[in-house]
Amino acid sequence: MPNHLQWALVASLLGGASAAGLYTKSSPVLQVDAKNFNSLINKSNHTSIVEFYAPWCGHCQNLKPAYEKAAKNLEGLAKVAAINCDDEENKPLCGQMGVQGFPTLKIVVPGKKPGKPRVEDYQGQRSAKAIVDAVVDRIPNHVKKLTDKDYESWLAADGSPKALLFTEKGTTGALLRSLAVDFLGGINFAQIRSKESKAVEQFGITSFPTLVLLPNGDSEPAIYEGEMKKAPMLEFLSQAAQPNPDPAPAEPKKKSSSPKKPASSSSSTILDSDMPTDSPSPEVEIPPEEEPVKVPVKAPEVAQLATPEDLESKCLNSKSGTCILTLLPESESPDSELPAPAKEALSTVSELSHKLTGHRLPFYSVPAINSRAKILRAELGLGESSATEIIAVNGRRGWWRHYSSEDGLSLHSVEGWIDAIRLGEGSKSKLPEGVIQAVEEKVEEKVEEPKEEKVEKEVPHDEL
Ligand SMILES: *[C@@H]1O[C@H](CO)[C@@H](O)[C@H](O)[C@H]1NC(C)=O
Ligand SMILES: *[C@@H]1O[C@H](CO)[C@@H](O)[C@H](O)[C@H]1NC(C)=O
Repeated sequence: MPNHLQWALVASLLGGASAAGLYTKSSPVLQVDAKNFNSLINKSNHTSIVEFYAPWCGHCQNLKPAYEKAAKNLEGLAKVAAINCDDEENKPLCGQMGVQGFPTLKIVVPGKKPGKPRVEDYQGQRSAKAIVDAVVDRIPNHVKKLTDKDYESWLAADGSPKALLFTEKGTTGALLRSLAVDFLGGINFAQIRSKESKAVEQFGITSFPTLVLLPNGDSEPAIYEGEMKKAPMLEFLSQAAQPNPDPAPAEPKKKSSSPKKPASSSSSTILDSDMPTDSPSPEVEIPPEEEPVKVPVKAPEVAQLATPEDLESKCLNSKSGTCILTLLPESESPDSELPAPAKEALSTVSELSHKLTGHRLPFYSVPAINSRAKILRAELGLGESSATEIIAVNGRRGWWRHYSSEDGLSLHSVEGWIDAIRLGEGSKSKLPEGVIQAVEEKVEEKVEEPKEEKVEKEVPHDEL
């Protein structure tokens, strides 16, 4: 029975992170918890993406390099946050946010009313670029677009400070949008295109983009000469108004959580064509699990079902829950070496069974010498007995699934397949008649139902 100590050990072996969470203190990812979620995320005027994770989850560990890269690229533009749903104090919040598996990514977009954001599930690719693109798309736009016809009335409209970007582009970039969010209520933002010659001439603009600040609303423009980067632009604009503190300072008598990384305080370049790519940046540490781990072929973790009775009593009867079976290929003689793909499959599966110990998901290997395995292959239409097959079978519910060997045998792809099963995603095939043996009560005690892990009880999914 795994206990918390073991989880901590597994987490530290796999991720190199502390037992407490997946991200270290120096990570660019903003680590939030149930106490500060509301002030840091819900009440912010900035868009956030939040990863709900558990430190032991393999896909969370796999996501970490891309997520940290996204956090670096979005610095100053949006918040990239993570919350550890394995932490008792955070579990109610994770449940309330509808988290059903790990990692779950949600984008929190400020609504019209403060503290009432719109929450969207992020279901795109788990690459830095895809994440950055999705978040950038959802940065609020408080920047007005002007033309020669209306810019004068905008300038004259009220006495508040104004910032005007002269640009060749028709779209509003992430940097300008994020600056407008920082100064919401303090500076009005607009942009105007280079082809609007009347305005361009009035301000004497000769290159694009150029940012002009009108601290008094309509007179004495100050032209920004620095780089188009967040930090110096924020400083320049601060001569007209202070950026909003984010999170907002605590109201009197109310306890506040300390700010960690306000989106506004960091520097960032304009997002343009040299956007992040999918590959992890060299400075980001890749979890060691990516490297193939050499495991002896007969690893103790993956028990063998050597006889037809074993196979039927554990996995092929009307009471058995989900089993992950690795059907081994026929070999010349019982002692001869297994072919390389079979060894690879066993090594991956035994590593996974080790990693997923807490899920009590039974993994078995079935040697070709087990005559029931041969029949099973025929029943399921799996064809040649010279191939290694990984299948999931659920006798009680009468379904099975086949891991496609086209996806390779890496830990990552087999684990993805297993995760999909655990989360009830993807389609299952009905087991043909005759595969499953109807059983009497007495078999039941032998068949150990995979027990759900603690967190999964509170965050229910389809089955297991
Ligand atoms: C944050 O906002 C979402 C959406 O409005 C809401 O469902 C959730 O309960 C809020 N969380 C907290 C901690 O206030
Ligand atoms: C959000 O914007 C409003 C102005 O619309 C401002 O008063 C408030 O302080 C801002 N909140 C934060 C947390 O930045």
